[in-house]
Amino acid sequence: MNLFDVYPLFPIEITRGKGCHVYDKEGTEYLDLYGGHAVISVGHAHPDYVKAISDQVAQLGFYSNSVVNGLQRRLAEKLGKVCGYDDYALFLINSGAEANENALKLASFHNGKKQVLAFKHSFHGRTAAAVKVTDIPKYVAPVNEGMEVNFVELNDIDAVRRELSKGTYSSVIIEGIQGIGGIQIPDDGFMQALRAECDKHDVVLILDEIQSGYGRSGKFFAHQYAGIKADLITVAKGICNGFPMSGLIISPKFTPVYGQLGTTFGGNHLGCAGAIAVLDIIEKEHLIENAAKVGAWLLNELKGIKGLKEVRGRGLMIGLEFEQPIKEIRRKLLFEQHVFTGVAGTNTIRLLPPLCLTQADAEEFVKRFKKCL
Ligand SMILES: Cc1ncc(COP(=O)(O)O)c(C=O)c1O
Repeated sequence: MNLFDVYPLFPIEITRGKGCHVYDKEGTEYLDLYGGHAVISVGHAHPDYVKAISDQVAQLGFYSNSVVNGLQRRLAEKLGKVCGYDDYALFLINSGAEANENALKLASFHNGKKQVLAFKHSFHGRTAAAVKVTDIPKYVAPVNEGMEVNFVELNDIDAVRRELSKGTYSSVIIEGIQGIGGIQIPDDGFMQALRAECDKHDVVLILDEIQSGYGRSGKFFAHQYAGIKADLITVAKGICNGFPMSGLIISPKFTPVYGQLGTTFGGNHLGCAGAIAVLDIIEKEHLIENAAKVGAWLLNELKGIKGLKEVRGRGLMIGLEFEQPIKEIRRKLLFEQHVFTGVAGTNTIRLLPPLCLTQADAEEFVKRFKKCL
């Protein structure tokens, strides 16, 4: 059997990782400024994470959601405290798209409405509802087309007001910082006004923090820069440092109903043990503070480099936009300088390193990046 060929691949096979570095099968070391799509939060092969996962799988890897799972409860308790949403509840699933899928459904169960407002250049995943609120038409299959979604420009509060005043909307879904859209940061004032509009019209505010959350922005959630609270928050990627897991964080105003949401694998013992270890490491090693500090240094340094159109970001979520396509720069970065980076569109490089990126790693990146310009 062949693999279904949907990914354009670099001819590199990564077989090992440590901290902010990965190694291919020939032993070449790469500086990882991408964290495998913003997934590696506490660093590759962190010993505490490895131990937590190894110990757990040796004891019990999985049992179903029909019995008490003390690890889920410990994770919820810890996450509530660390993220500042202590009074909210947690539902665990397996991927970012699935978290958004459940958020959109729960909002609709809650208020009985159908329409969703989303933003231009958004990305929320590939499943039925998640892809429909994604502003990339080529990802939407005919079978996904039924749902009623409208898109407005990010930061356009008048457009939001016009739409929500119709009284037909169930929810608004917005990324804490748009990732695939090119590291676009919603204005704090816009987020506050959006919160007020959702309250006014009884619309559920869903914050997709799948890429921008879990400390990446220098705060636990990017929307916390605006000092607002969301009704539903989705998390994935960094939650378990590469083990597939996601979560939906739910305001106390939602009443749980048996059977309304469910999953086989979600919240399994192995994932929970890894996710608890991730939060312990984030706290112990002050990784959110590190993301804020090293990210601020990087942003400042990169803004000083000539030839870039714009540098945007918060913490360790940084976009480097060029006037021209970045394909050649990225090729040089990877094959000549041995640095992994990501893209957004044709002209923007995305930096999403592990949150443990050191000042020395950041300086090394800047040195290698300058050689590619
Ligand atoms: C903001 C955002 N939402 C949702 C998703 C979908 O997550 P997954 O690929 O785990 O389904 C992504 C993935 O890149 C994302 O960046």
